[in-house]
Amino acid sequence: MRKKIVAGNWKMNLNLNEGKTLVQNILSGLSGLTDNKQVVIAPPFVHIAQTAAQLQGTSNIFTAAQNCSSEASGAYTGEVSTDMLLSAGAQYVIIGHSERREYFKEDDAILAKKTAQALSTGLKVIFCCGEPLEVRDGGTQNEYVGNQIKAGIYGFNADQLQNLVIAYEPIWAIGTGRTASSQQAQDMHAHIRSVIANQYGNVVAEQMTILYGGSCKPSNAPELFACPDVDGGLIGGAALKAEDFLGIIAAMTAI
Ligand code: 13P
Repeated sequence: MRKKIVAGNWKMNLNLNEGKTLVQNILSGLSGLTDNKQVVIAPPFVHIAQTAAQLQGTSNIFTAAQNCSSEASGAYTGEVSTDMLLSAGAQYVIIGHSERREYFKEDDAILAKKTAQALSTGLKVIFCCGEPLEVRDGGTQNEYVGNQIKAGIYGFNADQLQNLVIAYEPIWAIGTGRTASSQQAQDMHAHIRSVIANQYGNVVAEQMTILYGGSCKPSNAPELFACPDVDGGLIGGAALKAEDFLGIIAAMTAI
């Protein structure tokens, strides 16, 4: 059975005190996690050690970074290496978020390099994909997202992919309040799974966890997570409020 995950991406929000309180409130309301139903919290870099310390001794809830350097170490002012993240207590890193692709001009080549660097260090990767509105309106979203997946992960072998999760986040649904319909999410997730199956076969494709992200809330999470190919969510705004995040986690633990 493949893993279900709800991951919270705080983006560039919350200072250290606010982050500490949010994690405390999440932990005090959390129940129902198992090895197959996990929670990931992705705060900004400066929170990682604090968040990881708060999660120490808990089960099936992990700390993630939102980005990492593609280089192992050296003269790269302002960068954070995968080894630093691991040593600070992170187990996951988000790579290829649309905000990194758009605002920081991260292209397929750099994202594949970051993914290789993270996997080789022992971090698990949440690899993001998703199309802009004009692509969706033009009807070529399957090809667009398929190409992101091929460029991002086809360079890895099936064993490496066991440490990788995909997050489909249609850009037009991020922070807009306009969620993809459950049918749109299911169709794209099934397509992504078929792109993986083409290269690695059905067994690997069936084991791949594919998360949905984009205006996911407690009210729409049950319907989205009920789709057979949607294995949880990557949550932005609603991950900043313990009550909302716990509501979304409850939708995952209920399936
Ligand atoms: P929202 O949930 O705020 O739409 O953000 C989704 C996202 O980008 C998570 O990475």
